[in-house]
Amino acid sequence: MSVLGDVAEKLQNAKRVAVLTGAGISAESGIATFRGKGGLWERYDVEKLATPRGLKSDPAYFWEWFEGRRREMLGAEPNPGHRALAELEKLVESFTLITQNIDRLHQRAGSKNVLELHGNAFTIYCPRDGWRMETYEPLPSIPPFCQCGAVMRPDVVLFEEPLDEGTLRSAFLAAENAEVFMSIGTSAVVYPAAYLPVEAQRNGAFLIEINPEETPLTAIADAVFQQKAGEILPKIVEKLRG
Ligand code: APR
Repeated sequence: MSVLGDVAEKLQNAKRVAVLTGAGISAESGIATFRGKGGLWERYDVEKLATPRGLKSDPAYFWEWFEGRRREMLGAEPNPGHRALAELEKLVESFTLITQNIDRLHQRAGSKNVLELHGNAFTIYCPRDGWRMETYEPLPSIPPFCQCGAVMRPDVVLFEEPLDEGTLRSAFLAAENAEVFMSIGTSAVVYPAAYLPVEAQRNGAFLIEINPEETPLTAIADAVFQQKAGEILPKIVEKLRG
């Protein structure tokens, strides 16, 4: 049987499916990845910029960069890959979508059960008094200020910051109980997210990778599609529908 047929059959018979997505699934929506060609890391020193220290030392520069990313995300549309995953969720008894992305394109495509490991670009909060707001509009001022006068920050996990305990625990639980785990559009080099596919397979999951490039997972995955997510995911869902 073809890899596509094999994968469709595994998904057909699975009660519990978990998916990990990275920047690659939003690439076809025009949002730059981090490490790929033309990625953000080529243009910015992301590790210096996207840190609590970077925000504190030069809030204007941090927010110019971050607001640029927010507006890019606001201008983007979910692509066939996002939409296929929202369809897949309806076909599977228990479906968990774990994303490293902060663009909320999965939710805009209709995905319901989404765990945002790295937060989201549309909630901002005041580190001093905790005041928070969710906004899908361009920010009125750069950097944004709280009424208390402090500079606000995005509700995202910056480098050197811990992930939300509860979200991480739910993600590992979904991975450990999955019968099928799909790693889509991630370079699988950033931890702890990169542990999820390995933990899933170690607990018996059939591991599928979708990525045009090789990653550390490619050699161990049970099925590999070295294609774009927006191309192969609709074909997998179509095959599943039969
Ligand atoms: N379909 C599928 N995969 C794609 C596509 C596509 N159309 N286009 C690119 N890719 C792949 C690239 O080959 C690359 O392996 O997506 C992957 C993107 O990798 P990264 O840029 O490293 O993004 P990601 O894995 O999400 O990074 C993880 O690192 O910088 C931090 O917090 C940031 O959440 C991010 C985390």
